[in-house]
Order: sequence, then structure tokens, then C-alpha cells
Amino acid sequence: MSDDRSAVRRLESMEDLVSLCARRGFIFPSSEIYGGINGFWDYGPLGVELKNNLKSWWWQRIVRSREDVEGVDSAIIAHPRTWDASGHTEHFSDPMVDCRACKKRFRADQLGDAGKCSSREGSSEHDFTEPRSFNLMLTTRIGASEDAAATAYLRPETCQPIFNDFKRVREAARQKIPFGIAQIGKAFRNEINPRNFTFRSREFEQAEMEYFCHPSEREKWFEHWRDERLRFHHDIGLDADRLRTRAHGENELAHYCKAAVDVEFHFPFGWQEIEGIHDRGDWDLSRHAEYSGKDLAITDPDTKERFVPMVIETSVGVDRTCLAILVNGYAEEELEGGESRTVLRIHPALAPVKAAVLPLSKKLAEPARALAARLRSRLNVFYDDAGNIGRRYRRQDEAGTPYCVTYDFDSETDGQVTLRDRDSMTQERIPIDDVAARLAAAVDWPT
Ligand code: GAP
Repeated sequence: MSDDRSAVRRLESMEDLVSLCARRGFIFPSSEIYGGINGFWDYGPLGVELKNNLKSWWWQRIVRSREDVEGVDSAIIAHPRTWDASGHTEHFSDPMVDCRACKKRFRADQLGDAGKCSSREGSSEHDFTEPRSFNLMLTTRIGASEDAAATAYLRPETCQPIFNDFKRVREAARQKIPFGIAQIGKAFRNEINPRNFTFRSREFEQAEMEYFCHPSEREKWFEHWRDERLRFHHDIGLDADRLRTRAHGENELAHYCKAAVDVEFHFPFGWQEIEGIHDRGDWDLSRHAEYSGKDLAITDPDTKERFVPMVIETSVGVDRTCLAILVNGYAEEELEGGESRTVLRIHPALAPVKAAVLPLSKKLAEPARALAARLRSRLNVFYDDAGNIGRRYRRQDEAGTPYCVTYDFDSETDGQVTLRDRDSMTQERIPIDDVAARLAAAVDWPT
């Protein structure tokens, strides 16, 4: 979705986007009336539609359009032994330091972002402690008992319950290797320094798929899923010059990983990961077999070979991708006559509202409302008759609405309305009876 307009300003500072998101009800601090809670965000009426559209597109691409991937929706709290088996209780930590003067905490590997100390006399440098390991899992308690056995964890990634469910799902769905299991859901990490708006949050959503294959095919499937996932990010409209893949070096790999590639997006705060594609080998299934005492190996029905499948994982952050979509789409444009507009040029299939129905005058409210009601049976449509038409267009541009349908006095006699395109701002006269089909085709995702 690049543009060739000369007087276009792309997003340079996150503050402009944060302000638009709050003003228009995309995303804003959770518990705002209490001053917010660091690392937690709420999605408002436009934000939840954007997020749902992205999740539906992912689900369609990964689960529904394929014979070899099944979906699940598992509990957020898994048996605590799950996290011993996965290595999270032992390894899932970041190095943390405290400043003895201002009492703030920082990630020891991100001290460049720590800023100045506000409390130290005679120096603005922090007075750091030695780094120590801080486990990122959020704990809770189950039941009335206060003993340690009641401690449980809010899952730090959505994939572990998939491994717990592997045997059941394979048998129930009668799948043979290779096949995958996917889920979308909340994950929780007690991040030391949540930052960059929703980019690093303490509660976020992941869309993950674990693909189980024969050891001889792991490289083939790793390459397949790396290419497939990069294609998805192009398809949803992220600009090619803001997307890249980056392979992890040996010393960067997580404890479970044999190989990893990140899909990175260029945010105003630099190149950052939005998705990871990981070769997890047989780490997870072998460890869960060991800790649960259940045999998770399978037998090839043709060769009778018995083996533990290898896992190729695709793991995308839903909130990070939403943020990338908003950053990518944001533009401020100078228009003829000295006017300007802020527009969210997001893919029509992701746009929260697909079309706004705007009567030219309040006198036309009745037939315009009737048209909006008809369209609403298939699409998320907004009706607005407040203010002058130019201002109403601007409001929709800012919400990313790809089409405005203007009902005017001629519509009463010629049975036509004006269809305005958000990006080109061109206007076209079309029959009222064609509007629903035209919009439905234009806002669908490509197959
Ligand atoms: N199961 C593998 C896994 O969880 P990860 O690289 O830790 O891998 C995958 O996370 C994706 O989840 C990341 O690419 C990112 O998009 C998202 N993610 C991770 N931590 C996040 C956080 N604190 N806030 C928002 N999104 C996060």
C-alpha cells in the first residue's frame, strides 16, 4: 500500500498514533480512570474490529484453507508441571537490575534505554545493582489452599497447551504426520519494562501454529512456513520496504530452538520482531512425554517406524501486528485548497468499518438509514449525519473506513448513490442495488 502523493507525511513519532488510537477508540490504557496499569491495554470499538479481522484472516489462512491444520482453544491455565517440562520455570527469565537511588527496575540488556536517574544527588547516572535473573511468568493461585501446590501460571505462550493436546487432537481429527495444530489466545509475561505502546505488553495475544513432521522433513517445512508467513504479512498490506526476515545467530537461540527466523517490521522505534518461525525439534514432545509419563511418539502406518515428531512453529503477536498495520497505514496528507487530512490506509479486509453511509442532509435520514440497515446484514457499516460532509469524510479517513456511501437528493429519483474511495478520494456514481455486492467484493480478503 505505498502511495505516490508528494505531500504525504508518514508516521514519525509514536505519540501521533497513540493519540489517534485513544481519540478514535482503537486502543487506550486499561483501567484508564485509575491512571492506567503499566503493560495492559484495552481495545475499543474500532480496535476490537481491527483485531478480530486480523485474527479471522490468520485463522482462514492457517486453519480453514488447509486440510492439514486443526484448531484448538485451550485453557489459559495449564497444569503447573507443563512449565517445568517446557523449561519455563527454569529458563524463562530476563536479566534485571535496580537503581539504588530512584528504585526503578531495568532490563540489564537494555540499559541504553534507561534514561537519566531523577533521584541521585550530584549525578544523573543510575546507581545499578548487579544483574539478577527475573522469571517472567505471572503466577496465580488455584482454590482455597494457601500452600505452594496451589500456585499456577498464566501461560507465557499459547503453544504449550497444544503439545499437551497433541495426542488427543491427532486421534480425534484422524490426522497423519505431517499436520499442524493452531490456536489464538492470550499470553502473559511479567515484562520488566513494558514499552512502545502495545509493542511490549504484559498481557497480549498470540496466534501460534505447531506443525508436526518427520525428522527427515524438518528443513523443508521450516522453509515452507517461513516463506508462507512472510507472504501473509505482505498480503495484509504491510509495505515491502518495512518488512524483512532475520535469521537468529547460534547465541541468540532460545533453549528449545534449533533454528529461528524473525519476521521484522520497521517501526518508528526501529526494526522489531512481529513473528518468529522456530524449529523446536522434538524438545517439547519429548519433555512432555518425560514429565507426564505418557508416550507421545507415533508409528508411521506405512513403514511402522516409531518416532517423536519434529515441530516447526509459527508464532505471531496479534497486538504487534495490529500495531504494525496502524503504523504502516498512518499518513498525514496536504490536500488542495490548503486543507489536510489524517488517513489510515489499511487493507479493506482489516478495516474496522467497511463503509459509512452519509446522507447529504438530515432530511434524507430515513432512506439513508434504511440503506445502512440493509448493508449491515453483511458488513460492519456506520451511519453518520452530523456535521458537514467534508468533516464526515475526514472522520472516516481517520478511522480507516475504505468507502463512504453518500445519499443525496438525486438518489431519490435516479436510484444511485456516490461511492467515495478512501485512498484516492475519487467518487463514483453507482446504483443503490449494487452497493452491497460492490462493497462485499472490495472488502474481502484475497484467497
Ligand atoms: N512460542 C514461541 C514464542 O512465544 P516469542 O518470540 O517469545 O515466541 C512470539 O513470541 C511473538 O509473540 C513475538 O514475535 C511477538 O509478536 C509476540 N510477543 C512476545 N512477547 C510479547 C509482549 N511482551 N508483548 C506483545 N507481544 C509479544
